[in-house]
Amino acid sequence: MELPNTDRRIFFLAVNSGYTENGIPDSRFLEFYAARSGNGLYCAIVGNVAIPNGHGTNINTPKIEKLSIWEDIAKAISDKGALPGVQLSTTWLGYNGNKGFISKTPQEEISNYKRIASSFEQAQIRAQYQSLEEAAKIAIDCGFKHIQLHAAHGYFFNLLLDSRFSKHHQLAAELTQNWLANTIPDDIETSIRISTLTGAQQFDSIESSFIEDLTSLPFDYHDISEGFYNIDKKLIYPSLNEILTARIERTKNIALRNPNNSFIVSGKSFALSKAELPNNVHVGTCRDLIANPNFLQDQHNGCKNKMKCHYYSRGKSTLTCGLWK
Ligand SMILES: Cc1cc2nc3c(=O)[nH]c(=O)nc-3n(C[C@H](O)[C@H](O)[C@H](O)COP(=O)(O)O)c2cc1C
Repeated sequence: MELPNTDRRIFFLAVNSGYTENGIPDSRFLEFYAARSGNGLYCAIVGNVAIPNGHGTNINTPKIEKLSIWEDIAKAISDKGALPGVQLSTTWLGYNGNKGFISKTPQEEISNYKRIASSFEQAQIRAQYQSLEEAAKIAIDCGFKHIQLHAAHGYFFNLLLDSRFSKHHQLAAELTQNWLANTIPDDIETSIRISTLTGAQQFDSIESSFIEDLTSLPFDYHDISEGFYNIDKKLIYPSLNEILTARIERTKNIALRNPNNSFIVSGKSFALSKAELPNNVHVGTCRDLIANPNFLQDQHNGCKNKMKCHYYSRGKSTLTCGLWK
């Protein structure tokens, strides 16, 4: 679709809050998004929502279904002035996310991801794209106006579309393009979230065209993340200044190489001024808005890296925050 001509769009990036019962979002879920979708936010992307017949990242992962609560969530976001977005995702039967933040055996984890990806068969891949089609239709029927494909952090669509893991990556690219062309109406925005690094340094240093492959998929935005969940979560949610700076530089470089695409940068990136970012880069923010629902207004009272939000790694079932109560 043709993107609106606003200067710098601010996205509330995907969060799996755990505010669900049996995969159904509850009132805490709705209130969480309603509280954060005002103050000029452009779009709130509801995090890590499993597609029909898909598998969540943990037992509290929401599932998209024809239920009025999903309409209520989309409406609560748009009533506050933001575009309601949803991130569609799946893992696989038996998926288990590591609790630790950094794997001591990253190459072994790479081999595990490769083994999983090589087990994906064509029939299973086509079935997942049918579920993705169903998921997008339900989400759009419920009022969501921005659909994000979660192809980051080592989950199903990440492994499938990345030529370093999957021998079916060309089929997956074709199915993704068909899905975009045939399922998503023109007035609905699209994005794909990708991980440009896994966190396994030796593997990441091997030259590959996977970033070019993924940025050539015709989404309205490419949302640049880093890290695979079972290798290095500190890349997914960086807190050290040097990691944040390097991540933002890497995103800027990708954006400069692809001036006709629109990108979303993240990593405590809200403070970046317009002058610091190429024109085709928009800002994604997450932990600052978790910590302070009015962060876009207050701007100084954001996340202080108290690490409480990492509920799954801490053995808890829902999001908490050391600042926001
Ligand atoms: C508690 C928590 C849950 C998250 N869940 C997701 C998720 O479901 N999907 C996703 O793509 N990223 C997820 N992320 C990553 C964020 O979207 C974001 O990219 C990251 O926190 C870096 O941005 P920030 O520095 O503004 O927080 C999560 C982050 C946190 C802190």
